[in-house]
Order: sequence, then structure tokens, then C-alpha cells
Amino acid sequence: MHMDAFIDRLPKAELHCHIEGTLEPEMMFEMAARNGVPLAYQSVQAVRDAYQFERLQDFLDIYYQGMAALRVERDFYDLARAYLEKAEAQRIRHLELFFDPQAHVSRGVPFAAVVGGLSAALQSAQRDFDISARLIMCFLRHLDQRDAFNTLEMAKPHREQIAGVGLDSSERGHPPEKFTEVFAQARAQGYRCVAHAGEEGPPEYVWGALDALQAERIDHGNAALADERLLARLAEQAVPLTLCPLSNVKLRVIDDLADHPLKQMLDLGLHVTVNSDDPAYFGGHLNDNYRAIAAALDLGPVVLAQLARNSVSASFADAPRRRALLAEIDAYMSARATH
Ligand code: ADE
Ligand code: ZN
Repeated sequence: MHMDAFIDRLPKAELHCHIEGTLEPEMMFEMAARNGVPLAYQSVQAVRDAYQFERLQDFLDIYYQGMAALRVERDFYDLARAYLEKAEAQRIRHLELFFDPQAHVSRGVPFAAVVGGLSAALQSAQRDFDISARLIMCFLRHLDQRDAFNTLEMAKPHREQIAGVGLDSSERGHPPEKFTEVFAQARAQGYRCVAHAGEEGPPEYVWGALDALQAERIDHGNAALADERLLARLAEQAVPLTLCPLSNVKLRVIDDLADHPLKQMLDLGLHVTVNSDDPAYFGGHLNDNYRAIAAALDLGPVVLAQLARNSVSASFADAPRRRALLAEIDAYMSARATH
């Protein structure tokens, strides 16, 4: 079987995808028109041409602008439903979606419209595609902890719809310790905890995410490669890392995919996974990330299946679902071996 077909049919989970980062320019224009929201660009092509980034902040500036098109519950439903249809086509069997409530509430969009639209789409995918999915609400780290506490408060009536909390946006200058208390409170309310760390920031931020925030997974974590003690800790505690290869190239975290730390991390015994981050902005969906990293680092089917297994076992799906999906991967691999 060719590698492309192998990857396309491999059952897998995605754990690091920002739903606002799946907004394709075509849908952005459609929603802006129906909501009467002015956009800074004249055409879909002009939007795509603007997606040239030197660093994380260049992307974030455009990403927050693009979201202005999202105004009402239906927009969030349509956005998530469109991504779940793409997930189905890529054989993503379980999906964890980040969303940024502060970026919407600050524009006057009700919290309930965001969560209502997203969770209705997740339910439709469970029903139509047998895809299990979870929502993870991220705090914007460039804002202060008070704002994050307000967001946690707003989420109270929706506790059952939201599996966890995360931390995203501008990393440098905003260490995890800034959010220690709000993460403690979220944990006390039963939320799972994850955090972006070591994307642009130093290894110290990965330590902070583990120690101060008690993050159960690290989103990105590239910088860990520069700190041997940290690598030992990540390996010993089997902390999952949600790596995003094409994102790293687009945001100039690395110059070339051949420099990506994924293979070294695997060889060190770390629990690494492959993810798309913001696929509408970074030029590739999840299977494109698998294909690109396989080609750049010369990974074969056995290693790719390991990455898929890692994605399932690091997920917040319940134990029976994780077992069932691991069995799907095993069945896929044995069917392949006997052909
Ligand atoms: N928000 C959306 N994508 C992000 C990323 N890659 N890093 C930090 N914040 C983000
Ligand atoms: Zn991210």
C-alpha cells in the first residue's frame, strides 16, 4: 500500500486543533456577509496571500481578525461541523478541539452561543460518523489571570460540555505561573488540564506547565529538546506532547521539517503525537502533517501506527473508547500484514 493511502485509512485521534484555526477564507467571507461584518480583505486570495508569518505573533494578529466573522451560534455549529466532516474523511476517530472563549466574549458574542454551537456539532458527529469528541477551553495567556477567572465562572453552566482547560496565545513574556491559581481552581472543578509550552518559549515554561499548572499534556513542547533533565522527566512520567509539524514550519519555530524534533523525541521514549494546530492557516490538515513528517524524517508505517496509538492513549476519551480505538489500529495493522 502506498504511504498516502496507508495514512488516509489509519485510525487516529487529534488532540491539538484550535477550532477557530480551521476557519477557511471561503467560510470566513460567507459568514461575514451573512452577519454584516466588514473584513479587512477584498478576496479569498488576498486573505490567503496574507498568511506569511515570521513568528507566532504575526499569525495570532491575523487569527484574531479572522474570527470577527463568527457572531452567532449557527456560525460555531457550521465551523465545527465542517471540520468534523474533514475529520471523518481523514479517519480521525476521536477529536479534541480547543476554543478561545475570551476572543469571542470580548466581541460581544455570548459564551452560550459559542459552546452551544460547538457542542451541537460534536454531537452530530458522534451520531453521523461515530467520532467521539471533546472541547477544551483555552485561556489567552496575553490577558491577565483575572480575565481567566471570569471565563472559568462563565463556563460554570456549561461544565458538562467542556472536558478541560488549556493555555494558548502569545507565549513569550507570559509564563505558566501567571495562571497557577486559575488552573488549580479549574482542576478542583474537575477539568482536565493541558497547556501550550515550549513552542516559542524556553524549557522553563514547560517546567512551569508541569509543576505550576499540573498540565497532563504539553501542547508543542519543542523546547524540551534543549533540557536533558526535562526530557528525563517527560519520559519518566510519559507526559504526552502534542507536536504540530507544519505549524512549526509556518511559524518559523523550525526552518525545515528535517530539523523537527519528533524523531529524536520518539527515540528518547517520549509520548509524542502529531496534530494540525490551525489547519486553515498552516497549509495542511492532520493527514498532511503525517505525510510531511513521514517524508521529512523517513518514518515508516510501524512508526506512524505508533504515533496514532499515542494519540489515542493520550486522549481524554473514556477507557472503553480508548481500548476500542487501539483495537481498530491493531486490526488495521494486522489486515495490512496479511495482504
Ligand atoms: N492559538 C492558536 N494557535 C496557537 C498556537 N500555535 N500557539 C499559541 N496560541 C495559539
Ligand atoms: Zn496550538
